[in-house]
Amino acid sequence: MEIVFASRHESNPLEWVRALQAALPDHRVRLWDDEEPSGRADAAVVWAPPAGLFDREPGLKYLFNLGAGVDALLHMPGLSDRITLVRMEDGGMAVQMAEYVLHYLIRESRDLGRYAAQQAQARWQPLADIDRSAWTVGVMGAGVMGARVAQACAALEYPVAVWSRSGRPVAGTESFGRDGLADFLARTRVLVNVLPLTGDTRGILCRSLFQQLRPDAYLINIARGDHLVAEDLLACLDEGRLRGAALDAFSQEPLPPDHPFWHDARIQVTPHVAGASLMDLTVRQIAGKIDAVAQGQPITGIVDRARQY
Ligand SMILES: NC(=O)c1ccc[n+]([C@@H]2O[C@H](COP(=O)([O-])OP(=O)(O)OC[C@H]3O[C@@H](n4cnc5c(N)ncnc54)[C@H](OP(=O)(O)O)[C@@H]3O)[C@@H](O)[C@H]2O)c1
Repeated sequence: MEIVFASRHESNPLEWVRALQAALPDHRVRLWDDEEPSGRADAAVVWAPPAGLFDREPGLKYLFNLGAGVDALLHMPGLSDRITLVRMEDGGMAVQMAEYVLHYLIRESRDLGRYAAQQAQARWQPLADIDRSAWTVGVMGAGVMGARVAQACAALEYPVAVWSRSGRPVAGTESFGRDGLADFLARTRVLVNVLPLTGDTRGILCRSLFQQLRPDAYLINIARGDHLVAEDLLACLDEGRLRGAALDAFSQEPLPPDHPFWHDARIQVTPHVAGASLMDLTVRQIAGKIDAVAQGQPITGIVDRARQY
């Protein structure tokens, strides 16, 4: 097969081409060239690919995304239904997502932010012991990321519930299906969003949802910026309905310098780094799938266009 690597965001695309080529000795891997597309590529490995890719590579049959979320790809003009879209499944991201969530969960539940403030005043003041039953975690999404996050929180004995379309069970947690959203929210204090961004989930993190959480709730959004209605978050923080939020993804990235999130002490901002796909694991996974399709074998991680994930 001929495989083209196309990304507008990768700082060192040649390193990816070399790694993919080394893992795929029976195939030809090349870097996308705006000036000289070959027009013969069978597959593309992409992250934010250039707009001209589909027009100029009309033979593409497979698109392998370097990330788990395919929302941006699905909206690209020219993406034909004939192309099979394949997403990353874990690729080293899930354990990082779990670390990220544990960091903020522990920071809140163990008062570590308050101890940092006390240190700045040289103040020795033990705060109340943790009451784990008061720190109920609710994870939206029971997929590769959501399940790993939920299990990590449950391993530290936080009471964890998971909400998904199908109510897919995750060991050691309470599962809620689509119709169980109200019950899921009513028991949740720390809400973690790891849903894919789809027509159903855009804007889901909004005032009416925050109002159904337990009092003094905390939001961790590690999925997409467009899940969140920013003004509803700020209003709910002002009203004391939410105590704070950790946000990794934003509607506009990079987050503009004048955005209110930057300067709000109740909000922790990180630059979309909660779970990075690591080159070794990513290349190994994608190369394995390319070898499989070249041999006519089935692969996992194919995006269902109707569900949008
Ligand atoms: N910030 C970062 O660095 C970063 C890194 C990686 C991923 N992400 C984000 O994380 C998302 C999830 O990744 P993943 O690999 O875990 O995806 P996944 O394996 O496809 O899992 C998606 C989960 O969401 C559930 N879901 C989808 N639509 C729903 C709806 N309308 N209502 C309720 N549940 C719904 C699915 O339910 P079913 O189980 O019933 O199908 C499934 O449990 C990605 O799409 C991406 O946006 C962010």
